[in-house]
Amino acid sequence: MVVLGTTPADIADAAHRLRNGALVSFPTETVYGLGADAVNELALARIFQAKGRPADHPLIVHLSDARQIQDWARDIPDAAWQVARVFWPGPLTLILKRAPHVSDRVTGAQDTVGLRVPDHAVALALLREFGGGIAAPSANRFGRVSPTRAEHVIAALGTALDAVIDGGPTPVGLESTILDLSGTQPRVLRPGTITPAALAVVLGRPLASNTTSPLPRVPGNMPAHYAPATELQLAEATHWDAQVRRFVALSQPRAVLSLHAPPEDLPKHCHWIQMSEDPREYARALYARLHDVDRWRCDTTLIELPADTSAWEAVRDRLRRAAAGAHDHAGTA
Ligand code: TXA
Ligand code: MG
Repeated sequence: MVVLGTTPADIADAAHRLRNGALVSFPTETVYGLGADAVNELALARIFQAKGRPADHPLIVHLSDARQIQDWARDIPDAAWQVARVFWPGPLTLILKRAPHVSDRVTGAQDTVGLRVPDHAVALALLREFGGGIAAPSANRFGRVSPTRAEHVIAALGTALDAVIDGGPTPVGLESTILDLSGTQPRVLRPGTITPAALAVVLGRPLASNTTSPLPRVPGNMPAHYAPATELQLAEATHWDAQVRRFVALSQPRAVLSLHAPPEDLPKHCHWIQMSEDPREYARALYARLHDVDRWRCDTTLIELPADTSAWEAVRDRLRRAAAGAHDHAGTA
């Protein structure tokens, strides 16, 4: 495994590797992706192997330009062009009906395909140099916290991949919003920093509620996902004071993620991480902090939930999934 920089020579090297069927991790504005040539069956198979991901979980195809939608999708609704014009490049994935040639490995054998144009100079340079679509899930082991820095990728996947382009920390920090435009009504399958309200304005219609129909094959939709190895407990702000007092009094090594400053008498065995009160800042930092508490081998981490408002929807979604997933990993990490 080699670590590449972001010079034109590095980008050319990475694109060359992709053409030869290699796995190359690269930064996007959301998280680092684990990229492979989206028309190379063997390279696609290696993604699933490297991540330990079940074969029926579909992959997002990354493109350099919205016009390439036509190479991957059919029956493209006007709505797709409308949101692409406004939000691409950006942290939005569109689910559309797939074009006939798209690999079952990409689609999870469904009739749809996920497409996105990322808003990151390095990702775009790589996509332009490569020319075709790059299939890329988040570059973590299946079910674990997504990487927002090259060192997270190396720690999680190391020898399972061929190269990582180190483009520094990713600016958004949470995975893209997934908008399904393949059905009769637009629907958000995974919340992200582009909100349903912002999408509804551009689409000129409200979105279908996501709570009514269970969505198979969207790992981000499984309750246990995005999980660190440390056990996580969540506390609503209303219960915070009492809960945190009890929590820090216990003696095992532990961590707290709070929107507040630490108490003056904080015990030494307790790491206190003060998170930003700004949802964007919070999102940018969250996964790096969860990777930190894993590295510190804390027993348990208590997290103060931010307010239940639309600005915090994506953050609260990932915190809930991380807490559910951490339970499942207990003892197996
Ligand atoms: O921000 C992101 O979206 C990052 C960066 C690397 O682009 N990628 C990412 O990929 O989060 P991944 O594979 O970790 O999550 C993609 C999600 C999965 O939950 C997958 O099931 C869903 O997108 N997905 C992909 N294609 C789909 C499809 N055709 N129908 C429904 N869900 C789909
Ligand atoms: Mg993922």
